Amino acid sequence: FHVPVAVNEPVKSYAPGSPEREEVLLTYKDLYNKKVEVPLYIGPDEVKTGDTQSMHPPHDHKHNLGVFHKAKKKHIEQAIATALEAREKWANLDWEQRAAVFLKAADLIGGKYRAKINAATMIGQSKNIYQAEIDAACELCDFLRFNVEYMSQIYDEQPESSDGVWNRIEYRPLEGFVYAITPFNFTAIAGNLPASAALMGNVAIWKPSDSQIFSAQVIMEIFKEAGVPDGVINMVMGDPVMITDTILASPDFAGIHFTGSTTVFKGIWQKIGNNIQKYKTYPRIVGETGGKDFIIAHPTSNAKQVATAIARGAFEFQGQKCSAASRVYLPESLWPEIKEHLTEDLNSFKMGSPEDMTNFITAVIHEGSFDKLAKFIDQAKKDKNAEVVIGGNYDKSEGYFIEPTVILTSDPHYTTMETELFGPVVTIYLYKDAAWEDTLKLVDETSIYGLTGAVFSGDRYELNKATKMLQNAAGNFYLNDKPTGAVVGQQPFGGARASGTNDKAGSKLNLLRWVSPRLIKETY
Ligand code: ALA
Repeated sequence: FHVPVAVNEPVKSYAPGSPEREEVLLTYKDLYNKKVEVPLYIGPDEVKTGDTQSMHPPHDHKHNLGVFHKAKKKHIEQAIATALEAREKWANLDWEQRAAVFLKAADLIGGKYRAKINAATMIGQSKNIYQAEIDAACELCDFLRFNVEYMSQIYDEQPESSDGVWNRIEYRPLEGFVYAITPFNFTAIAGNLPASAALMGNVAIWKPSDSQIFSAQVIMEIFKEAGVPDGVINMVMGDPVMITDTILASPDFAGIHFTGSTTVFKGIWQKIGNNIQKYKTYPRIVGETGGKDFIIAHPTSNAKQVATAIARGAFEFQGQKCSAASRVYLPESLWPEIKEHLTEDLNSFKMGSPEDMTNFITAVIHEGSFDKLAKFIDQAKKDKNAEVVIGGNYDKSEGYFIEPTVILTSDPHYTTMETELFGPVVTIYLYKDAAWEDTLKLVDETSIYGLTGAVFSGDRYELNKATKMLQNAAGNFYLNDKPTGAVVGQQPFGGARASGTNDKAGSKLNLLRWVSPRLIKETY
């Protein structure tokens, strides 16, 4: 099969005076004051239910961006019926036609809609322009383009045939519909979860996070303009329990594509189990959930390199990345030098609204997250076995701002070494240089999660030892690099243990979950 070769969308610089900077700032201003009204998208209909909730930028929470409409049970039932009706044609469309639609969507994101999707992500999710560009513009393009390449590789895989026998496999979509639940922290994940299932011929009902709806609407606008037919991807918002319960009660529920918290995912898994007698098929359950991602440095590490990895791995995107480093194990001997570099790096990060492009750190997503983080910081200030060594200030008077904060603890099991915080707070534990192997064991045993992790050493034997001892501790494992920033097409992403089903986003493995292959044997 021949498909256009996928290449990563080049990241633009947004240097002062560049045309892309001017354009995104103008779009930002325009969107900021527009007062949008986001409907439910059910087939061709934009449904305004009248039951609305307002949206606010996390960095300026008194400002009103408009509202989104919330579904009632009947709207979810309508979305299911509409999706199943659309399936009749979509599932039987030649795969090239489906691929073409999503390739066009990628080009619209990288071109005509680049400024809009970036600006919406900056406003609604409080990302600085560089974060928005990497996420909304580039990563979403990459998912859509690389998935077409992976799809063609899947369809290309055929069994052997023999004399008088012709074996072939049809990679049919699932029999039913797919439910996509997406998080606030990545616009790219939000777009990719319904789109990857749809690319393989499935229809989807998509429930974005309440905190990402401002950019989710732009994704729907793009999908429509790209020619995704009505009913193939339906977007609904509202009470998550009602939506999920209604969807999981349908006999046609055929799979879930989820990114979010471990607790919610486990609850959904349980509900699917309770409903199992109702379903026509065994639903596919694909989820990426929490993490407590680590960095561990051996005494032979380069201190500056480790400090940079902590600064970037823990604090870029305000630490609101499932991959963000949040527990760090350093040898006592290297701490003074690492601390010096880390303090210098963190002091250079300016904090404030993303509209001012010199700001690197912006606000955390909402008040609930802010309050939770502030509570852990306050506790660390009081506890005897912990100390706030860098940052520790916060202020929610205008936006939900938390200073990049480093907690040092003498207890490797201190709460913030084990609890997922999802914000700009990292906890460091210093180990005695001689206790390297014991500390590797500690890293492995401390967390229920297994998403990302990074090991630093200048000694190849020690890197090898860590790689072996931590083989189940991280689905994405980094040697002498920060544990974040996986690029589609280069580092397929996903974790094990309580971090998810590890069906690597941006890979053939993921797309294979959205097909139900039929083997055809013909004798002649
Ligand atoms: N793919 C994102 C990263 O690796 C989550 O940081």
